[in-house]
Amino acid sequence: MLVRELNRGKCKTYLIACEKSRVALLVDPIREKVDRYLAFLSYHTLKLEAVIDTHTHADHRTAGFELKDLAGAKVIMHRRAPAPHVDIHVEDGEMIPVGDVQLQVIYTPGHTPDSISLYAGDRVYTGDTLLIRGTGRCDFAGGDPGEQFDSVTQKLFVLPDETLVFPAHDYRGNTQSTIGEEKRFNPRISGRTRGEYVDLMNNLGLPLPDKIQEVLQPNQSALDDDRLRFPSLAELNQVRQLTPNRVQALLGTFPLPVLLDVREPEEYTGELGHIPGSILIPLQDLPSRAGELEGYKDRQIIAICRAGVRSTTAAAILTGLGFEQVSNLKGGMLDWNDHNLPVDM
Ligand SMILES: [Fe+2]
Repeated sequence: MLVRELNRGKCKTYLIACEKSRVALLVDPIREKVDRYLAFLSYHTLKLEAVIDTHTHADHRTAGFELKDLAGAKVIMHRRAPAPHVDIHVEDGEMIPVGDVQLQVIYTPGHTPDSISLYAGDRVYTGDTLLIRGTGRCDFAGGDPGEQFDSVTQKLFVLPDETLVFPAHDYRGNTQSTIGEEKRFNPRISGRTRGEYVDLMNNLGLPLPDKIQEVLQPNQSALDDDRLRFPSLAELNQVRQLTPNRVQALLGTFPLPVLLDVREPEEYTGELGHIPGSILIPLQDLPSRAGELEGYKDRQIIAICRAGVRSTTAAAILTGLGFEQVSNLKGGMLDWNDHNLPVDM
């Protein structure tokens, strides 16, 4: 197994390759470094089979979709990842092969709902779930400190103490740690109860990320053009969120709400199906096609997508265009399906 960290910065990208079969995989590649990754792969005669994002990043644009385009790599993310164009969705316990090397997916939500760690026997890539002497913040983008505490203590700290820890970020120049060291010395977790950890994380007082429009929403939607002006965090936070059961109840009322699905056409007819009667306008086309909804300005509109993230963006855009009663299906078609509510395929 050949393993290299390729960025040499605060943001870590790991190349994991099987030397025998010459196939490689990149964990958390960043878009500005695509040329460097391709040069490295070429110099070492490695074929890039896949890119794994351990979660939807808020601090850098992912290189996943670019490497899919340029090198034919498959994009792998957890089932809860909100973006379209993910080739393989994985869940807890699944194995990802890289030639002779096997990576086991450990679902570790908390930093985001789609956070995974990757376990390869002697080492674990922990994304932003467990950092060296720290943990990733969980105060936006669907983060949940209680879930994060459970992920760290019940999913990662049960690995053997000597397991090497490789996080997605380090701000102090560290490169690796071990599970045993983090159990003893991680100042956020060590000696704290779940309740104390939640209190601590809810009161970190960190400034909100300034790249939410340039980084987070483009990563969440796999969009890379200027047709869309992404809403601000304040605008997103104002969107009314409706649970699947609440939406189902509204479908028995008059006038019927307008169900607006903003996914890509292949998702609308894909494995999650769509809600009967919903109309499809992909998010990227929404600004140019909002005129089609003009007749519904006084009706309740419910935006829908895969995980409820792109549709929150859509709802905020429509609100900005003067639509007065726009809400969002919380958890999107993932939660709708998990509640066994009716779908058309
Ligand atoms: Fe992150």
